[in-house]
Amino acid sequence: MAGRCGRRAAIGAAFLGLGTAFLALISAVLLRAYLPRSPAIPRLWARRGGTAGFSAGERLELKEALRGAIKIPTVSVSPEDLNTTAMAEFGNYIQEVFPAVFSSKFIQHEIVGKYSHLFTVQGSNPEMLPYMLLAHMDVVPAPPEGWDFPPFSAAEHEGFIYGRGTLDNKNSAIGILQALEFLLRRNYRPSRSFYIGIGHDEEVSGWKGGLQIAALLESRGVKLSFLLDEGSAVLDGIIAGVKKPVAVIAITEKGSITLNFTVEKDPGHSSFPPKETSIGILAAAMSRLEQNPLRNLFGYGPELMTLEHLASEFSFPLNLIMSNLWLFSPIISRVLSWKPSTNALIRTTTAVTIFNAGVKTNVIPASAKATVNFRIHSAEKAAEVLEVVKNIIADDRVKIDVVDAFDPLPISPWDAQTFGVHIFQRTILDTFPDVDSVVPGTCIGNTDSRHFTNITNTIYRFNPVLLKPDDLPRIHGLNERISVENYEKQVEFLFQLIKNCDTERLPEPHRNSHEL
Ligand SMILES: *[C@@H]1O[C@H](CO)[C@@H](O)[C@H](O)[C@H]1NC(C)=O
Ligand SMILES: *[C@@H]1O[C@H](CO)[C@@H](O)[C@H](O)[C@H]1NC(C)=O
Ligand SMILES: *[C@@H]1O[C@H](CO)[C@@H](O)[C@H](O)[C@H]1NC(C)=O
Repeated sequence: MAGRCGRRAAIGAAFLGLGTAFLALISAVLLRAYLPRSPAIPRLWARRGGTAGFSAGERLELKEALRGAIKIPTVSVSPEDLNTTAMAEFGNYIQEVFPAVFSSKFIQHEIVGKYSHLFTVQGSNPEMLPYMLLAHMDVVPAPPEGWDFPPFSAAEHEGFIYGRGTLDNKNSAIGILQALEFLLRRNYRPSRSFYIGIGHDEEVSGWKGGLQIAALLESRGVKLSFLLDEGSAVLDGIIAGVKKPVAVIAITEKGSITLNFTVEKDPGHSSFPPKETSIGILAAAMSRLEQNPLRNLFGYGPELMTLEHLASEFSFPLNLIMSNLWLFSPIISRVLSWKPSTNALIRTTTAVTIFNAGVKTNVIPASAKATVNFRIHSAEKAAEVLEVVKNIIADDRVKIDVVDAFDPLPISPWDAQTFGVHIFQRTILDTFPDVDSVVPGTCIGNTDSRHFTNITNTIYRFNPVLLKPDDLPRIHGLNERISVENYEKQVEFLFQLIKNCDTERLPEPHRNSHEL
């Protein structure tokens, strides 16, 4: 993912402090206030189990297929600077390791934007609305310094495969094709059609890959029942106060606006300086931005739904607090603002990322420049953020230029009538025996799925791997790795998901069943 989606759902640590401090106060109120209610979706499917049943030979094969892909350095540095040699090699590689996919009579393969891939898997029942699985092959740069094993070695150590792309996102790109390869070998043909998209420039915008795939599908009049991309995961021990792993599926992602700030003044000699220099004016403006964060929007975006769906997973007293957000949201919203990882969920964030001025020790510089990146909460728009920023700066000498901007992504439906929600719940119950809760969340980074809003309003971001707190800094960081067990699970999830999508009719929700 572009930016750190992994941190998005770390609603956690901040809650810990809440427990004891407010316990006395809270329990007094709760005795009267606590009314169990069920905003969450009821469980719609029974847990099955032991689904895919890969052989030992297949397990070895799937691991080696991923390792081979990790070794290809498909790095993207900027939209203009991609290792296209490696991207072409990746295209040849998938043909080699997934022969059944490439020779199937009902699968059409196309190369889009020179290096991205689109597969159209024709189902036997044209009446059923198709869905789409999306992933990307490109990775962020990985200088080898600081890694325990070289980042493109795919070294195996104590049950883990190390390398750039093991979590973001070759595990999905290769995992999807692997699951399909195994299904084809079992003579499987889906009844519902689906698309597989593998972008090659997601980390640097997706303009040549994901966007072109979306445009091509739109030109063909394609509509989707849902789209599944990377962006969230099964979180284990990441949300403080929640013991069991929970599957968090992001139903939106934040928007972004990047602004350049420039102050121009007459240059001069340092021996008779003016009262204010370009540097001083710009520094004061940047300081005002940091001192005046955009407003706390807890309750206006999907973060409220996340907590409601998670309520039963929290231990006492947090479960009671989360079940009574009508009463406790002022406290919770304040607690969430304490930590950067949770603060990012509740407001548009401000990050001063570049500051440049000055050329010589005795010269007052003619100009000072700074760049600030804002990540926009789903209840705000880029244009509103720009207005607020102008009012905070309130200084005509500071010129503001928009570098780029896009609004937050629409919020995808999350209810018992939505096909994708059924499929995710069912497939998670099938493949993750320890997971009881499937909850909607927010992705604070961005994914290629943002280019697909013209062909579907049901976009979900979920990478079916179990992440522990230790895994989050590895994404885009040092020693990115995936356990072999985790990757097998991912392939099993995708294998099962494709089969589950053949479901034609959704079951009626049962009133008294478990919450999803
Ligand atoms: C680009 O990828 C090729 C392999 O496909 C590799 O040999 C080459 O070193 C890579 N270039 C850079 C700059 O990393
Ligand atoms: C914004 O600033 C960056 C860094 O100084 C620069 O590369 C870019 O061209 C600027 N863009 C605009 C639109 O001013
Ligand atoms: C979606 O459609 C609108 C209106 O036709 C168009 O302007 C826009 O570029 C399209 N967006 C994408 C991401 O293709």
